Amino acid sequence: MIIALDGPAAAGKGTLTRKLAEYYNLAMLDTGLIYRAVGLKAVLKGDPSDNGIAIEAAKSLKPLDLEMKNIRGEGAAKYASLVAAIPAVRDILLGFQQDFAHNPPVGKSGSILDGRDIGTIVCPDTKFKLYITASLEVRTDRRYKELQERGEEAIRSAVLDDMKARDQRDSTRALSPLTPARDAKIIDSSYFNAEEVFSLAKKFIDSQT
Ligand code: CDP
Repeated sequence: MIIALDGPAAAGKGTLTRKLAEYYNLAMLDTGLIYRAVGLKAVLKGDPSDNGIAIEAAKSLKPLDLEMKNIRGEGAAKYASLVAAIPAVRDILLGFQQDFAHNPPVGKSGSILDGRDIGTIVCPDTKFKLYITASLEVRTDRRYKELQERGEEAIRSAVLDDMKARDQRDSTRALSPLTPARDAKIIDSSYFNAEEVFSLAKKFIDSQT
């Protein structure tokens, strides 16, 4: 079983991924972390939107890079969306993601990947495609609360602006823009709690088996 879970920032992908992974015994990959690590590596060398710098960072990516300090911060998210718009970077990272999806560790029943283009590009053949979204207001509140809980300084209006800019960049880039696959089950989580979202996702997945 391969579950492809896509959606914009702070839509609830992480929580749903963990719940589905536990329920269906799946290995999980947060593909955003890969782009975040490439973004952070690139910015150490200069401008992350520079093709040469971003491509070098993607080529030299190692598993340990996913544990870089500040990888979950908003700076990393911004750099991630800059390197993510470069086609050669996406190309380099595609093989790693597909390999993970198709070769789960022994003992696991499959894999779940969350990101922006899992259902459309990384794993287009799976029938288990979910697209989770929520209103910009709700997503801003969630991310703002998350940052506060982690002790990071945050200003709500800045979180909103960053999220808007990132949504815009992710949805309008030429290659692999953020968009639901045609056969994805779309769940708007604005008015549902995590448990309710999980129930809806589970119902869809079970209906596909
Ligand atoms: O946690 P959040 O949803 O805010 O972001 P993320 O999933 O960690 O992704 C950070 C950025 O990486 C996104 O804004 C995208 O630009 C990029 N990304 C992507 O292009 N493709 C993916 N499969 C995953 C992330």
